[in-house]
Amino acid sequence: MQNLRVLTGITTSGTPHLGNYVGAIRPSVRASRPAGVQSFYFLADYHALVKVGDPVRVQRSTLEIAATWLACGLDPQHVTFYRQSDIAEIPELTWLLSCVTGKGLLNRAHAYKAALDKNNAAGDDPDQGVSVGLFMYPVLMAADILLFNAQQVPVGRDQVQHIEMARDIAVSFNHLYGEHFLLPAAAVEAHVATLPGLDGRKMSKSYDNTIPLFAPREQLRKLILSIVTDSRAPGEPKDTEGSAPFQIYQAFASAPESAALAQAYADGISWGEVKQALFERIERELAPLREVYDELMQEPAHIERVLRDGAEKARASATPFCARLRQAVGLRALERAAPAAPGGKAARLARPAFKQYRQSDGLFYFKLLDAQGRLLLQSAGFATPQAAAAAIAHLQGRGSAALAEMPALQPQPGQSQALASALQELSKAGGHKRFA
Ligand code: ADP
Ligand code: TRP
Repeated sequence: MQNLRVLTGITTSGTPHLGNYVGAIRPSVRASRPAGVQSFYFLADYHALVKVGDPVRVQRSTLEIAATWLACGLDPQHVTFYRQSDIAEIPELTWLLSCVTGKGLLNRAHAYKAALDKNNAAGDDPDQGVSVGLFMYPVLMAADILLFNAQQVPVGRDQVQHIEMARDIAVSFNHLYGEHFLLPAAAVEAHVATLPGLDGRKMSKSYDNTIPLFAPREQLRKLILSIVTDSRAPGEPKDTEGSAPFQIYQAFASAPESAALAQAYADGISWGEVKQALFERIERELAPLREVYDELMQEPAHIERVLRDGAEKARASATPFCARLRQAVGLRALERAAPAAPGGKAARLARPAFKQYRQSDGLFYFKLLDAQGRLLLQSAGFATPQAAAAAIAHLQGRGSAALAEMPALQPQPGQSQALASALQELSKAGGHKRFA
């Protein structure tokens, strides 16, 4: 049996925070460990360009995120760990996919819609500040996933729509060109909610409300102390529901630990004590990882080598697969005519066709072939191509009835039934294909 293929990426648009760790990094490192799993992890630096126009930040973030992943236990010997922009097949596949992706599908993407809604609410032009890169974001992401035929994609909840779109795009491509892609599914950690940030909204680089994953110990403590809470005094019972420190605690603690803290809330623990408990719980998990991270950050050349080796490993499957896809869509060497993709729409669409040609007698002829290329009808010679085309148009308009009126046409013996149905099909389809 083939290994289960798991793939995930993280956008190199800033410093990784606790939300990225809980929602993406930790679950995906865990998912990479079992035997029988083939994992792909990458730094989505092309995606970063959609949001970040600062080259220094993109580079810095790429280093930080690579170091984060390695520090959190990703083993580049066991998984394929690479940088998106090292794989030229990804933008190449993005183009192939964009040609089978309905614009309407992308119109429905949350991020794009949010940008439009914001502009509309402000009374601005709806497309103000919206790049084509933002619009195409889901297609690039589909290419990331489909290029490696990943079946499982560990992501946070906010990314689920993108995985669904990747499925839709894969279905469209397969429908047209044959079964090349497996359909990916999102894998969302069931018990991990979206982590709130310092201000209680979703923790996100875009809101500037994050706790950096490897902030130095003292900074981590300070940031945790600054998480917003309500104004209940020590001794007053407190609600765990909607409490940011509690939600973050839960993401690190075991079920009994969380239950104990919930009890402490009910018993009127002070916010200061809650935050101290949160700090200690997080620090217990992160301190050993931070040490490794700090060392790795001093070794950018080492990380560069790791990523280049990873890219080579990734290309070992991406390059031949992309070549197969190029072949499937018709980007082919010319010396050999290849058959239509088996099972694809191109094959299913094969239908009767008129072929028009000129012979050495200087006259213009046409013939009608069935879907398998068998001759159904042969014309006599016409003086001009226009006369031949007019005869074809007449046939298409009137169907079999026209045969009796056109003595220059010679139905093939024994094919009258096939000829009648071919003419019917052609008149239904409306218009005929261009001639060879
Ligand atoms: P950000 O919102 O900070 O820009 P990204 O969009 O780069 O984060 O997200 C990277 C990964 O981390 C994604 O899989 C995303 O779902 C996950 N993630 C981001 N923020 C959170 C959060 N607050 N809670 C849980 N997971 C998150
Ligand atoms: N868009 C994802 C995010 O912001 C990152 C990403 C890019 C990704 N390509 C991917 C995640 C492919 C999973 C699979 O989090």
